Amino acid sequence: MIEHDVIAQATPMPILVAPQAVLRQKTRLVRPEDMDGLRTIIPRMFAAMYQAPGIGLAAPQVGLGMRFAIVDVSDKDGPRNPIVLINPEVIAETDSMAAREEGCLSLPNQYAEVVRPEAVRVRYQDMEGKVQELEADDLLATCLQHEIDHLEGILFVDHLSTLKRNMIMRRLAKEQRQKH
Ligand code: NI
Repeated sequence: MIEHDVIAQATPMPILVAPQAVLRQKTRLVRPEDMDGLRTIIPRMFAAMYQAPGIGLAAPQVGLGMRFAIVDVSDKDGPRNPIVLINPEVIAETDSMAAREEGCLSLPNQYAEVVRPEAVRVRYQDMEGKVQELEADDLLATCLQHEIDHLEGILFVDHLSTLKRNMIMRRLAKEQRQKH
């Protein structure tokens, strides 16, 4: 479990914006000896995600080539529900697909409708190393698939046509140039 006051006191980690090479690399599995470091980093990732605000953040987005991500799709007016997914994988998915608008903290201000399996079952380890399974539909299903994609070096724009992807990437590059 992640304590809320630990997140509140953590310094938000900077979030990398595409095109950063690390966002395109497949991550390696988290090993038991990585966990001490992750206990410091993960609250800082939550702090960055809540500040953004966003509903998911994967390790490559903060420059780490390791297979883990965090999500929280709770209502912003209700209690938070932070979930840490260590070495997550989709172990089952529905044949039925659903389209949902997606964005990404590494592609700020860019949104597009992405078609993915409507529901998934994800297996992962929690912070205590215990194997967990999570069945998700709706927003959480989209979010989990989006974050697990990140761990393979895949961005949501990769699910779009080349034309649409290039358009978004050009627009992002232009907006980033104007910002700096
Ligand atoms: Ni993302």
